[in-house]
Amino acid sequence: MEFARALLRWQRMHGRNDLPWQGTRDPYRVWLSEIMLQQTRVATVLSYYPRFLDRFPDVDTLAGASTESVLQAWAGLGYYARARLAHACAKAVVTECGGAFPRSAAELARLPGIGRSTAAAIAAFCFGERAAILDANVRRVLARRQAIDGDPAQRAVADSLWAVAESLLPGRRDMPRYTQAIMDLGAGICTARKPQCDICPVRDGCRAHGMGRVEDFPARRKAAPRPVRSAHFLVVLRGPHVLVEQRAADGIWGGLLSLPEHPEVRALRRHARSLGALAPPTPLAPRRHAFTHFTLAFTPHVTRLGPDSHRVAVDGTWRWLALGEIESAALPAPVLALLREVRDDSPAVRSGLAGTR
Ligand code: ADE
Repeated sequence: MEFARALLRWQRMHGRNDLPWQGTRDPYRVWLSEIMLQQTRVATVLSYYPRFLDRFPDVDTLAGASTESVLQAWAGLGYYARARLAHACAKAVVTECGGAFPRSAAELARLPGIGRSTAAAIAAFCFGERAAILDANVRRVLARRQAIDGDPAQRAVADSLWAVAESLLPGRRDMPRYTQAIMDLGAGICTARKPQCDICPVRDGCRAHGMGRVEDFPARRKAAPRPVRSAHFLVVLRGPHVLVEQRAADGIWGGLLSLPEHPEVRALRRHARSLGALAPPTPLAPRRHAFTHFTLAFTPHVTRLGPDSHRVAVDGTWRWLALGEIESAALPAPVLALLREVRDDSPAVRSGLAGTR
């Protein structure tokens, strides 16, 4: 109990208490924040969360929305599978749970996109259930406290961490603050690098600290090097519009709008010619985008078509997107960043296009 009490006291004084998903026990709002925070930093979520709620203020609205509008509101947050699962979850709440989120972690964990830790966070924040969370931050706090060695991705190690997490929980009344407290400690004090043990409220019970080996826990997984996949993106401009393709539902960026993509420059040039481009497209500086399982290294190539070019068939997959509308389109973050450059006519784009206007 000492652990929980020290954390609770610390959280009141030093924790985060004004995040927009705090101060509510509405499971829809808490659920949405937890889903967004699964793989995205708080600072990023802060700019998306209110907009998403404006557009989809309750679970019925989200359940009744089109996939495209949900992806559009999610665009830029990354990990789009989460958006699809969130949409599926909202539909399940409406059709299978009578429109209300279930009130226990065990039932919540049966819904799409809600794992054990997320279910526990929702149940603890909204209903005071004594359910333990174990996200990456909390794993680090507990692995250090108990000096638990071994890779947390291994079943036996994970089981010990869950058992520790459950053994430390306070009573129901304190569950919301305690859950926030242990997250806050992991995010702000017990950090992966340069932990601030000198101001840690639970330092005394920390075995790793006692051993002088805080940074040895949790054991780091030997990360396999992320493979690099390379691609070339074609930016086809016609007046104030850019040619975009709606990607197939499966695969990366499923359902989002993106640019024509080719594995080889030659194919990209052929494509540009077939659309009626007079000069070969101009390459911009290459860039990289990290996905969970690989890094995409891509080079954009910009070309401009004359206003009377009519060769581009616009059908369900292809469309002309106004550069003035890119901010609200369902574009993946790196494509949006690139199109902002193009829209703002950055020096790189201007010098690259000098000869093609
Ligand atoms: N990460 C996951 N859940 C969170 C929360 N409720 N507050 C801050 N960071 C979080």
